[in-house]
Amino acid sequence: MTTQPHHDTPPISHTSESKTFIQAKALSDRIWDQLKEDASKYRMLTGDRPTGPLHIGHYFGSLANRIKLQKMGIESFIVIADYQVLTDRDDVGQIQRHVRDLILDYASVGLNPFEHDNTTIFCHSQIPELNQLILPFSTLVSVSELQKNPTIKEEAQAMKLNNISACMLTYPIHQAADILFCHGQLVPVGKDQLPHLELSRKIARRFNERYARNKNVFREPTALLAEVPMISGLDGSQKMSKSRHNTINLNMTEKETIKAIKRAKTDTERMITFDPVNRPEVSNLLTLLSLCTDRSPQSWAEEIGDGGGGMLKQCLANHLNIFLAPIRERRRALESRPEFIQEVLDHGTRRARKVAIETLDTVRSVMQMQYNFK
Ligand code: TRP
Repeated sequence: MTTQPHHDTPPISHTSESKTFIQAKALSDRIWDQLKEDASKYRMLTGDRPTGPLHIGHYFGSLANRIKLQKMGIESFIVIADYQVLTDRDDVGQIQRHVRDLILDYASVGLNPFEHDNTTIFCHSQIPELNQLILPFSTLVSVSELQKNPTIKEEAQAMKLNNISACMLTYPIHQAADILFCHGQLVPVGKDQLPHLELSRKIARRFNERYARNKNVFREPTALLAEVPMISGLDGSQKMSKSRHNTINLNMTEKETIKAIKRAKTDTERMITFDPVNRPEVSNLLTLLSLCTDRSPQSWAEEIGDGGGGMLKQCLANHLNIFLAPIRERRRALESRPEFIQEVLDHGTRRARKVAIETLDTVRSVMQMQYNFK
């Protein structure tokens, strides 16, 4: 590897989780401040794998920020990362259903290109020019950098993979293409995506240095972190995640929501207190309650007090159902219009391709790979 990263922006180390997070959070906070001054010069990109329904961890960790940015008038690109589904499994599974459900999830929370003209939703498999960026980008990253990525290690473990494929190892490069093709600088994501974001920043920096004679072809993207970057699962495990079956999905019914919360893990102490270190499960439920009511977790803990885990769960189920009601209603209305999904995708593919063609043109130009020998 000949490229030396240079440190004009603070590098985010992967060796210390908390240091990584503190630095990323500081950067994220700074950007939120700048946004308030002038939103028009920014573009957002973020996205999801179509592997199953979105859940409230996605909502509070990322969707809420996307909605906020959309409302601020920021141009928003949302990638449905369909190729990325193949990182940790051998087949695409129910991809048709999952892509459809994802679009319904987006639209039901308010991410709808026909209500907000600044929003583009697309599948990355439909944008050949985006995928072509992967090749030059892959020259800018070493194998050992990829092997050190903690999120990939965790994902491989969660899926019990003995062997990881080249696609799994290199997906942070694909993800950099997702982000950089449209010059997305703002990337609302959860904490687990920070190592990938850091690699995208390196790729942008190294591309400019190595191939563009320091011209700023790509800008370094910034992770925008939510106030509560990671929601734990209802089983008490570290992360709410589809693959761990510990979620409350946005498309669940009221009854299913109540049932899922009833099964949530708590502890044996009756008195409810907010103590994330010593009582992670109870505190996670209080955090969720706080997020859907806009009240502090401490004040909920005081109110519930010796009502115990039962009352905490009842309160949460009740308020979450109130919170999710308008989302569910919008979904029902859109489900009765099957053409809607196709219209969203056609619109998104058209817009994303236009941008990707321009970016690939610039990349080929600075790499001296446009040939016209006449
Ligand atoms: N890796 C992300 C996830 O698993 C999905 C994703 C793909 C993404 N491309 C992206 C997120 C670009 C942010 C930016 O949730």
